[in-house]
Amino acid sequence: MEEAVKLLKIEDIEIELLIKAVKEMYDYDFSNYRFAHIKRRLKRRMELSRIDSINDMTGKLLRDKKLFAEILLDLSINVTDMFRCPGFFKEIREKVIPILKTYPSIKIWHAGCSTGEEVLSMAITLKEEGLLQKTKIYATDFNQAVLTIAKRGIYPVSNMKKWTENYQKAGGKNSFSDYYRANYKHVIFDNELIDNVEYINHNLVTDGKLMDVNLIICRNVLIYFNQTLQNSVLDLFTESLKKGGFIGLGIKENLKTNSIKNKYTDFSSKYKIYRRKPGY
Ligand SMILES: C[S@@+](CC[C@H](N)C(=O)[O-])C[C@H]1O[C@@H](n2cnc3c(N)ncnc32)[C@H](O)[C@@H]1O
Repeated sequence: MEEAVKLLKIEDIEIELLIKAVKEMYDYDFSNYRFAHIKRRLKRRMELSRIDSINDMTGKLLRDKKLFAEILLDLSINVTDMFRCPGFFKEIREKVIPILKTYPSIKIWHAGCSTGEEVLSMAITLKEEGLLQKTKIYATDFNQAVLTIAKRGIYPVSNMKKWTENYQKAGGKNSFSDYYRANYKHVIFDNELIDNVEYINHNLVTDGKLMDVNLIICRNVLIYFNQTLQNSVLDLFTESLKKGGFIGLGIKENLKTNSIKNKYTDFSSKYKIYRRKPGY
C-alpha cells in the first residue's frame, strides 16, 4: 500500500477507536453518523486545540470532560436560526395549521431543536393562528448546553434584523418586536411563548418514542446520519406520530431513500413535509 494511503487508513481506524471510546466513556453513540462529517469535525478540533493526532485526542478526551464537551458541540453542529427557511414556516402556517385547527389539542415534537430558535418560530406562528394555548411542544436535543440556551430564550440583538426579515417572509402577521424586549445587547423572548414547551434531553440514537404526536419537526439533523441511523430514527418518528400526522424535514433531507417511505404521502415536496397515511 502506498504510504499516503496507508496513513489515511490508519487515521480512519483511529477515528473508529475514538468513536468507541466516546461510547464507552460518555455513552454517546456516533457510530452511525456520516463518517466524512465526523472526520472533518474531529480534524478541525485537532487543529483548534493543537492536538497532534486522533490517538492523542482519544487519550485526552477520556480524561478531560471539558474537551469532550467541546467535541460534542463540534460533532453536533448547532447552527440554527429564527424562521430558518421562511418558506417552510409559511407552508406550515398555510397548509398544516388549518388541519391542526380541527383537532381539540395538538402535540408537536421539535427533535434536534438546538438553541431553541425553531421552537420560538413555531410558538409565534401558533400564537398568531390562535393555537398556542392548546398546543404542547416537546423540544428535544442530546446536547444539554444548547438546551440550556433554548430554555433561557435570550439571544444577541445583532440577530434581529435578519430574524425580522425571516419572520416577515414566513408570513408573520404582527411586528416581530412584539415578541421580545431588548436588554442592552440582548433580547429576551416572552415567557408566554414557551409556557407550554417542555425541553428534554433526548438522544435520537438511544432514547425512546413520544406518544401521539401530530407534527414532528426534525430539520437539518438527519443529514448527519448514515442510512441505517436515518431508518431507525424515522421508525422512531413513525411510532411516535399519530396516523395522519406530519413530519417536516430540512431542505436537503427527504424520506425517499428511507424504509418507511411507503407509509407517507408527499404533503409538500418543495418544503419536505410528509403526511403519515391514515391506514399505516
Ligand atoms: C444543525 S442543528 C439543527 C437545528 C434546527 N433543527 C434547525 O434546523 O435550525 C442539529 C441539532 O441536532 C442535534 N442532534 C444531533 N444528533 C442528535 C441526536 N442523536 N439526538 C438528538 N439531537 C441530536 C444537535 O445537537 C443540534 O442541535
